Amino acid sequence: MFLKTLSTARDLGRLHDIASILIRFGFGDMVRRLGLGAVLEQAGKLLHLQEEAEELAQLEPPERIRRAMEELGPTFVKLGQVLSTRVDLFSSDYIEAFSKLQNNVAALPFAAIAGQIEEDLGDKAENIFAQVDTKPLASASMAQVHKATLKSGESVILKVRRPGIKDVIEADLRLLARLAEVAEDEMSEAKQYQPRKIVREFANSIRNELDLANECLNAEQIADNFKDEPSIVVPKVYWQWTSERMNVQELVTDLPGTDLAAVDAAGYDRKTLAKIGANAILKMVFEDGVFHADLHPGNVFYRSSAQVVMIDFGMVGRISKARRFQLVDLLTGMVQRQPDKVVSTLMLWSGDSAIPSAELTSEIDAMIEKVHGVPLKSLNFVALTSDLTSILRRYKLALPSDLTMLIKALISLDGMGRQLDPEFDVVTSAKPFLTQLMWAKYAPNELAKKAQRGAAEGYDLVTGLPTDVWKLVKLMRKGQFKFHMQVEEMEHFLDRLSNSITRITIGIVMAALIMGSSIVMTASGGQIPIGLEYFSMLGFAGAVIGGLWMIFSIWRDK
Ligand SMILES: Nc1ncnc2c1ncn2[C@@H]1O[C@H](COP(=O)(O)OP(=O)(O)O)[C@@H](O)[C@H]1O
Ligand SMILES: [Mg+2]
Repeated sequence: MFLKTLSTARDLGRLHDIASILIRFGFGDMVRRLGLGAVLEQAGKLLHLQEEAEELAQLEPPERIRRAMEELGPTFVKLGQVLSTRVDLFSSDYIEAFSKLQNNVAALPFAAIAGQIEEDLGDKAENIFAQVDTKPLASASMAQVHKATLKSGESVILKVRRPGIKDVIEADLRLLARLAEVAEDEMSEAKQYQPRKIVREFANSIRNELDLANECLNAEQIADNFKDEPSIVVPKVYWQWTSERMNVQELVTDLPGTDLAAVDAAGYDRKTLAKIGANAILKMVFEDGVFHADLHPGNVFYRSSAQVVMIDFGMVGRISKARRFQLVDLLTGMVQRQPDKVVSTLMLWSGDSAIPSAELTSEIDAMIEKVHGVPLKSLNFVALTSDLTSILRRYKLALPSDLTMLIKALISLDGMGRQLDPEFDVVTSAKPFLTQLMWAKYAPNELAKKAQRGAAEGYDLVTGLPTDVWKLVKLMRKGQFKFHMQVEEMEHFLDRLSNSITRITIGIVMAALIMGSSIVMTASGGQIPIGLEYFSMLGFAGAVIGGLWMIFSIWRDK
C-alpha cells in the first residue's frame, strides 16, 4: 500500500532506512502493521535486523524510542522535541525521553558550506566580512554556527543551514504524513494520539524553523516587546546578510546558562537571575502572547546579576488573548472550587463533544481538593500540572498545541528557576501576572468589547451553559449539527399560494378581455377592420368561460 503512493525511488530508500531502524529498536510489530514489512522482505534483511533487535529490547520503551528517533535523524529529533510538549498525550517517562533527544551530528567543514554562503551573499564570505572563523562555534541538526567579524568591527555569528537539509526534511515529512494516515486508519490504539494532526502541526513548525530569517523576525518581535526592559537582551539581527538559509546576529559572549559554576564564580546573584528569567517568560506568555517555546539553559546567557540574554527563536508559541482569558477561567474554577467550570474549559480546549461524565467532574474536584488550602508558596506547579495532564490522558482530552507549548514553557521555567535558585517557585512568580490577566478579563473595556460582540460570544455565558447545550454548541461549531426543520403545512400552503396566483392572473386577463372587447364593440363601424367584431365576441366568450371556471374552482377548493 505504501509502495504505490511513493513518488520517488529516493523516498523508497528512506522508507527502507526508517523501517530498518524501527525493527532494530524493537518496533518490528509496528513496522509490519504499518505495512512496511514488505519493503524489507524485498531487501531480504528482516531476519538479521530482528536478531539485533533482541539486544536492544532490554531497554525501556521510552528509551528505545528516543534512541531510534536520534538515529532517524533531524526530522525525527525535532518531532521528538514537539512531542515532548504533549503532556496531554504522553506519560512523564516518554516526555522525559523526548526532551532528552539530541542530534549529535558532526559539523560540516567550512568548505562544505562556503558555496551556499556565497550564493546567499552574492559574494565570497571573506570579501564581505573582515574575518570568518572556519571552525564552527556550535553545530546542531539543522544549522551550524560560525563566529565572524564585520568590517565595521562588530563580532557576529553566522547561523548557516545545513546544505540539502530542507530536501531531507521534506522527504521525511512526506513519509511521516503517509505513515500517520496509515497508523490512524489501521491501528485503533494510535487514534488517540491524533497522528495526522500531530504530523500536520509538526510540519508547520519545522518548516518555520527551517527558515532562518523567520527566526530573526520572531527575535525582533520579542525584542520589541522587551524594549522598555533592560533586564532582557536579544541579540541584534543584521538583516542585510540574513536570508532563509543564513542569519547573521550579534555575537553573545556572556556566561552560558549551562555553566552555573561560572555564574557563581562571577558572583552573579542567582536569585535575581531566576526572578528576571521568570518574569520574562511569564510576561511573554501572559502579557504579550508570543513566547520563546524552546527555552533551556543552552539558549540563555547571563550578562550580569541584572541581565539575561535569550537566543534561538526558531520555535515560538503564540497564545491569543481569548485563550489567556480561558486560562483565567480554569484557574478561577480551581481557586473558587468550581469543578464544573474547570471541566467546561477543558472540554472547550479538547474540542470533545462528548458530555463530561460526572466521574470526570469528581476527579477534577478531588484534584482541586488536594491543592485547596495549600499556601501558594507550597503549591508544586509541576505536580499539579502532572495531576491535571494525567486526567486529560485518561479521558482522552487532547489540548490545542498553543497550550501544550505553554505548559512546556512553564515546566522548563520551573526547572531552570529551581536550578538557579532552589527556593524558586513558579506559582508565586506567576501570581501577579494572573491577577493582572484577571483584571484585564473583567476590566470595563473588555466587558464592553464582549457586549459589542454579542452576548452569545461572551465566554462566561458559554462556559456557564448546562453541558447539554454546550455539546450542541460544540457540534454546531464543528459543522456536525444539522437543523431538520419540518413545517408540515408548508407544502400545502405553497400549493394554495400558487393556485391564488393562477386565479389572479386569469382574473387580470379576463378583465383585459372584457375591456378590450367592449372598446372594439362600441367603436363606430367604419373604423373596425373586417372580422374584428367577431374577435371581440370571442373575447367576451373567453371572459365568460374563464369566469365560470374560476367560480367553479373556488367552489371546489371551498
Ligand atoms: N548570537 C549568538 N551568540 C553566541 N553564540 C550563539 C549565538 N547564536 C547561537 N549561538 C551558539 O550556537 C548554538 C546553536 O544555536 P541555536 O540558535 O541555539 O540553534 P539551535 O536551534 O540549533 O539550537 C547555541 O547553543 C550557542 O552556543
Ligand atoms: Mg538552541
